[in-house]
Amino acid sequence: MELESTAIKELIAKAIKMLDYSYVPYSHFHVGAALLAKNGTVYTGCNIENAAYGPSNCAERTAVFKAVSEGVKEFDAIAVVGGPEGQIKDFCPPCGVCRQVLAEFCTRDFKVILAKSLEEYRIFTLEQLLPESFSL
Ligand code: THU
Repeated sequence: MELESTAIKELIAKAIKMLDYSYVPYSHFHVGAALLAKNGTVYTGCNIENAAYGPSNCAERTAVFKAVSEGVKEFDAIAVVGGPEGQIKDFCPPCGVCRQVLAEFCTRDFKVILAKSLEEYRIFTLEQLLPESFSL
């Protein structure tokens, strides 16, 4: 599936907006995500931390869980941005746990868009980020 550059920029813009909603009193590291479902709906997510640390949830998983909890399980792409105090300084690749959660629902050609801005981004397939992944 080819993504047009306007669609890519729209996803990045939605991910950037989510940085405002990150709940990060511990790390102060904001992450925003925008997940494009095959039906065209975009599910957004932010990271949500917890005083007990372990229950914290990443932005990517927030987006996936919002979608799946509404019955949507087929996706084409996700945009991810992040940085300290919400300032994007570098690319913010998904953690290993989020890669595995994406692999539960997404095919190998699912696109992961890592962005520094609307103009500066890199696109990876899930297969590139999680090769030889586990599934039942
Ligand atoms: N974080 C994400 O939201 N996504 C990732 O893929 C990596 C890490 C969050 C978790 C925590 O709230 C903060 O970034 C610092 O680790």
